[in-house]
Order: sequence, then structure tokens, then C-alpha cells
Amino acid sequence: MTIVLGIESSCDETAAALVDGDRRILAQAIASQEAEHAPYGGVVPEIAARAHATRMAPLIEKVLKEAELGLKEVDAIAATAGPGLIGGVMVGLVSAKALAMASDTPLLAINHLEGHALSPRLADASLEFPYALLLVSGGHCQILRVEGVGKYQRLATTIDDALGEAFDKSAKILGLGYPGGPAMEKLALEGDPEAVPLPRPLVGSGEPHFSFAGLKSAVLRAAESGEHKPADIAASFQQAAVDCILDRMRIALRNMGPVNALVVAGGVAANKAIRAALEELATEHGLAFTAPPLPLCTDNAAMIAWAGIERLAAGGSADPLDISARPRWPL
Ligand code: KG4
Ligand code: ZN
Repeated sequence: MTIVLGIESSCDETAAALVDGDRRILAQAIASQEAEHAPYGGVVPEIAARAHATRMAPLIEKVLKEAELGLKEVDAIAATAGPGLIGGVMVGLVSAKALAMASDTPLLAINHLEGHALSPRLADASLEFPYALLLVSGGHCQILRVEGVGKYQRLATTIDDALGEAFDKSAKILGLGYPGGPAMEKLALEGDPEAVPLPRPLVGSGEPHFSFAGLKSAVLRAAESGEHKPADIAASFQQAAVDCILDRMRIALRNMGPVNALVVAGGVAANKAIRAALEELATEHGLAFTAPPLPLCTDNAAMIAWAGIERLAAGGSADPLDISARPRWPL
């Protein structure tokens, strides 16, 4: 049975996990840096890199102990090599290189986005390629046709902010805490989604790309006008986000070849209004709808280990020890 150690450090979660070819997560540990970044209302790269550096080694030691495994029993070490905040990515990748060299274990440099793209198959053995994936988090906002291991067709990306970022920035404007997504969703429950007229950027355009900067600016204007209740602004913002996603996803489904399922992943997939809207869209198109359980949706190391397992199963090879960390790395 193949066993892969996964390492993730591209944003503000330090994580390690051991996963096997039977989709079992043998052990996993994750250290969030939310508390360190909260005072700044967003992730501070320098603080993130330092926190990864102090936490990574103990986390790896912890998962190996928990699974009662030594590195000799691990078939490969898979680490996020990008895209992400470069200081953090380097901490994880260099840790993986050191362990790979010391234990003579193959190194797999994984694209973080590939981890997100394949994680639904870790959660659901019946999910077959190809599927449509909406990846929405604080750092990413993309629509992909996932066709196989290493085969990703990107249909859409954001021309400015990611959706999670728009949630976080709007939350900050409304004086809610960080991360803002969950707080916005909660406040939206008490508001009227039609109370505040907000734009739906790019809705109606033929290419399925996203744009959220204008929506955030409109939230700022609405808040500064003093004419609206914060709950109404939150509810109207969330409704605008749902409308944008549905329109963009409809165009993407029209532009891509046939798929088996509609999948949503990334931290924003936690949002119930967005999930419900996507589920309805899937039904409309006769597609199965699935979202990985939340701990696999947000940044984690099990998805990186799983991407490694998928690569090995598909006959892919190891990476050289001099492979570079990449701040930008489109799939
Ligand atoms: O995947 P993730 O943990 O990290 C990356 O950004 O890669 O996603 C975090 C993002 C944050 O922007 C957060 O505000 C957003 O996901 N988020 C939500 C909700 N829960 C988390 N956005 C909207 N509604 C939510 N319930
Ligand atoms: Zn991510």
C-alpha cells in the first residue's frame, strides 16, 4: 500500500498528513495562524513564514508518531511547491527536501491548486474524471475542468480579487473580524438581500471570468453612506456573490466539454447560500453535486499527500532536489 507524507505551508496553515492509497488519512495535524494575522485583518507574509518555520518540524514529527510510522515506511514526501506566499512555500519545500535526502525517499513537488483540484476524489471514491470544479478561497477563484491527473483545463480566473478576499475585505469594512467569510454569512442571515443595490461585475460577459474588486468598493460606499444596516449590506453582498458565481458557472459549463459532476472546493465552499445555489445549478444541468468535507476544502496537507498518491498511481515520477518554490504557478 502506497503511503505519502504531505506538507502544506502556502498561506496561513502549517499542515502535515499521512495518507494511503486506500484514501485513509492515517494522521494529520494542522496549526492555524489565524490569531497571529487577525490584528492585521489579513495574512502578513513575513509573520506567516516565521510561524511555518517554527511549527513545521514538530508537526511532521507528530503525524509520524501518531501513525506509528518512520520515514522508511513512507513511499514519497509530497510538499506544496507553489503557488503561494513564497516564504511559507520555501519552509515546507525545504523541509520536504531535507527529509527526502536524509531518508532517501522520493520528493514530489505539488502544485497547491492540484491538491485542491484532486481533493474531492480523496473524499469520494466514486468521483470520476472529468468534473467541473469551482475553486473559491481567500487566494484562488477559478473554474477548472479536471480531466485527469496533470490534466486541467482552466476556464476562468479572477481578474482582481478572489471571492474569499472580497468576503474578508467587505467584512473588514463592516467592522467584522478576520477571517470575514463566516462572520459575513452569519450577519447576512439577519439582513435583506435586496436592500442594497450592488453591482454584479462581469455578469453577462461571454468569458466566465470573475471580478470582485468593484463589488467590494460598492460595499465600502454603501457602508460610508450611513443609509444601510450592516446586516442588509452583508446579505446584499452575499446575494451579489451568489449571482456572479451562478452566471459565471453557467457560461463555464456551456464552454467546457461534458462532465460527470459539479464540485466546489476552497474555504468559501463553507458558505451555505453558495452551496445551495450551486447544488441547484447542478440539478438543473443533470449533474451530481459534491463538495469535500470542510477540513479537506480549506488548506490542508491531506490533499497534498493525496495529489502525490494520484501522481504515483498514474505512473508519474519524483522531482529533483533542486526544484524551486514558485510564488506563481498556474495549473
Ligand atoms: O481555503 P482557505 O482556508 O484558504 C485559502 O485562502 O487558501 O479559504 C479561506 C477563505 C477566507 O477568505 C474566508 O473568509 C473564506 O474562505 N470563508 C468563507 C466562509 N468560510 C470561510 N467565505 C464565505 N462564507 C463562509 N462561510
Ligand atoms: Zn488553498
